Amino acid sequence: MKNLFRAQTISLCLLLVCGLAALQAAYAQAPVPDSPAIEAKARAMLAKLTLEQKIELLGGVDDMYTRPMPSISLPRFKMSDASVGVRTWGPTTAYAGGVALAATWDPDFARSLGESLGRDARARDVNFLLGPGVNIARSPVAGRNFEYLSEDPFLNATMVVPYIEGVQSQGVIATVKHYAANNQEFSRHDTDSVADERTLREIYLPSFEAAVTKAHVDAVMNSYNLLNGVHATQNPFLNLQVLKGEWKFQGILMSDWDATYDGVAAANNGLDLEMPGPRFMNTKSLLPAVQSGEIKESTIDDKLMRIFRTELRYGFLDRPQFDPTVSTYSVADRAVALRGALESLTLLKNEGHLLPLDPSRIKTIAIVGPDAWPAVPGGGGSSNATAFQPVSIVAGIADLVGPKVHVLYTRGLPEMMDVFYGSRWNGPVQVEVFPSKDFTGTPQTSTQQNISDYQNVWWGAPDKTPRTVRYTASFKAPKAGKYLLLAAASGGDRYTVSVDGKQLLEQIQAEGQVPESAALDLAEGQTATVVADYRPAFSGVRLGLGLMNEADMISPEARKYASAADVVIAAVGFNDATEGEGADRTFTLPFGQDALIEAMAAENPHVVVTFTGGGGFNTSRWIAKVPALLHTYYPGQEGGTAVAQVLFGKHNPEGKLPVTFDRAWEDNPSYAWYYPEKGGDTTLEVDEPGHTPLSLTIGHVKYGDKLMVGYRYWTTTGKHPLFPFGFGLSYTTFSFANLNIPPSVTSGSTVPVGFDVTNTGKVAGAEVAQLYVSDASAKVDRPERELKGFQKVSLNPGETRHITLNLDARAFSYWDESAHKWTIDPGRFEIRVGDSSENTPLAAGLNLQ
Ligand code: BGC
Repeated sequence: MKNLFRAQTISLCLLLVCGLAALQAAYAQAPVPDSPAIEAKARAMLAKLTLEQKIELLGGVDDMYTRPMPSISLPRFKMSDASVGVRTWGPTTAYAGGVALAATWDPDFARSLGESLGRDARARDVNFLLGPGVNIARSPVAGRNFEYLSEDPFLNATMVVPYIEGVQSQGVIATVKHYAANNQEFSRHDTDSVADERTLREIYLPSFEAAVTKAHVDAVMNSYNLLNGVHATQNPFLNLQVLKGEWKFQGILMSDWDATYDGVAAANNGLDLEMPGPRFMNTKSLLPAVQSGEIKESTIDDKLMRIFRTELRYGFLDRPQFDPTVSTYSVADRAVALRGALESLTLLKNEGHLLPLDPSRIKTIAIVGPDAWPAVPGGGGSSNATAFQPVSIVAGIADLVGPKVHVLYTRGLPEMMDVFYGSRWNGPVQVEVFPSKDFTGTPQTSTQQNISDYQNVWWGAPDKTPRTVRYTASFKAPKAGKYLLLAAASGGDRYTVSVDGKQLLEQIQAEGQVPESAALDLAEGQTATVVADYRPAFSGVRLGLGLMNEADMISPEARKYASAADVVIAAVGFNDATEGEGADRTFTLPFGQDALIEAMAAENPHVVVTFTGGGGFNTSRWIAKVPALLHTYYPGQEGGTAVAQVLFGKHNPEGKLPVTFDRAWEDNPSYAWYYPEKGGDTTLEVDEPGHTPLSLTIGHVKYGDKLMVGYRYWTTTGKHPLFPFGFGLSYTTFSFANLNIPPSVTSGSTVPVGFDVTNTGKVAGAEVAQLYVSDASAKVDRPERELKGFQKVSLNPGETRHITLNLDARAFSYWDESAHKWTIDPGRFEIRVGDSSENTPLAAGLNLQ
């Protein structure tokens, strides 16, 4: 069993022998070689296989297993998705994972979460956990940010190491994903991330680097996208040069599900295991290639040896993976889930100290909004775990306040289908079905009452004739006011919606889709012509389209409750239908929610907005009108309890933003670079034995924002976002003092940075001290400041703690593009310490010689 604990043992030894400073410096530790017994056993297994059998083992089976080989007594091994819980095999404990985990800024918690996930996996016989996801949150709309960690490589790297060590310490293989530069969800299979090496090395690769070289993760998952023109699964730079070469990765490199495009290229460029099955890396493709010498048999053997060694190292062939001593569900798991939620909730606004609420002074509390009930533990897609007992915000608050406080709840807004069915068009909607891809030819016409084809209109059997569909409807505004246009369609399909000739909504090609909305002002009696052009990917239409007066969407109960209550909780945000895998989300709140908050603020001055979602969003319509805003991310199954505890001061909020909170999506530095350059698409032909040839249209996304991701951009330009990276309020106050650094040190040596943090308020609380480094004498352009250290500290009122953070050589380095290595330019550096990327009250200069 010793090998199971390899990663932990290494860390422990490092801590004892070399001290914390060296642990931070140790980006590239040499991996520990497997024991001679493991090596011999793996070789013996390999020796018994024919070439065909070897190739067969390079693909998975039954969606979530490695392939068995009875002739060498090799069983199949089980996998499960993992971002917020071990979700694949029935209900589970849903934790505050991904971006919420990063918001805790607590590596100790990351370790406990990893251990819990590892135990949950053992209880379900799972050998491989398909997580953590560590892609950088480059843009706030990227649909899977909630599954990942943060916008900062140092924060990611610091959190991911204990997380992976925690998982692997339980005898379960962690799989760090999605390697690499997979920073959006639209067209995720067909997007080429075009990024220079420095940008990759400094921003997009360090989370993976730490996972491999520090945590010794035993599996890595290649992403769907291309990087600089080559799919990740066959990318020699990513897989051979960096991962297996420089970082000396010893484990298994698997593909994302259906992310392989060329068996021979994948085999020759580092992919070890094609998931979910051998679509390309199979005997049809690889056998002739080995026979012709295009692939060396030793290349195949290396993959098998990696797979066998890793499985043997974990003891998978010697012991049952199912561990009857752990529970599938327990109060201990719930406690871990609650701790994560409590540590992550981030208070962003608290005007007039509205919070914490005092239950003895509140008679009635109104709770409204789509995220108040049912609970929203996570976003959508492969991470979506079915929580055993998710606690909604309504239930959490009612449980906490007890019977003396009246709790009034209403959703406050219609469901999406009610908007489609409830839209009062001015006469029938005209539907034209064109026998072409581009709205040409003679259409088949019909009329209908509304545009609610979202669920049920199909043309029947698949038909090879392409079709496009145009809906034309007229709307006469019964009164003056703001109206909301809402559309929802099916993944793969595309549409545009225009009003009086002006395009207001557009859905570009994506695997999935989220509903889109736009607001428009209409005068009383004004008639608007709405045209929706729909381009189905397959043989059916699934479009819902509605237009409704926004104020009329707010339920009368919501207004009544708000005026009768002492305080209103408006629980808004996204959920698994509006934010998830396969599609990007909107920066604006889903339909009607802005109006709901405005309506609540008009009825009651004490509105607390709680937000569920993976990052920032547009608050411009109401942020000045409400006194309090609490970011809950996706808080896992105990979210409702945690929200109640924070709102009522049973827990002092301690979360800090792991992403910058922009005012508008257009303000984000990636905005100009996020979509592929128009007209720049190229075609990629995929032609493999046994497959119908595919012609892929590849969009090239130029990472022109380079290093200017999140706070790097804001602090370099001197502009200010709505809430900066690292920011979060507490019910107490903290001060920073006595910064102590050596004035001058030799370049490359470890620099201790000492300072004091004091709780200057009246209640206990936790602060995250953040250390930013600026390179004042760099020969190249560098971001104004970069996070290079942090520590969370819990302090009683009046208590002071001295903190020392050690800066290793990497903290001062940048990637030298011509020398292809990390470099330090000696000279002056600025060290700053504070409680966010913008508020750093301590500063001192340092000379590196
Ligand atoms: C996702 C992966 C996931 C896999 C298996 C893919 O669609 O991108 O993150 O691990 O499915 O569920």
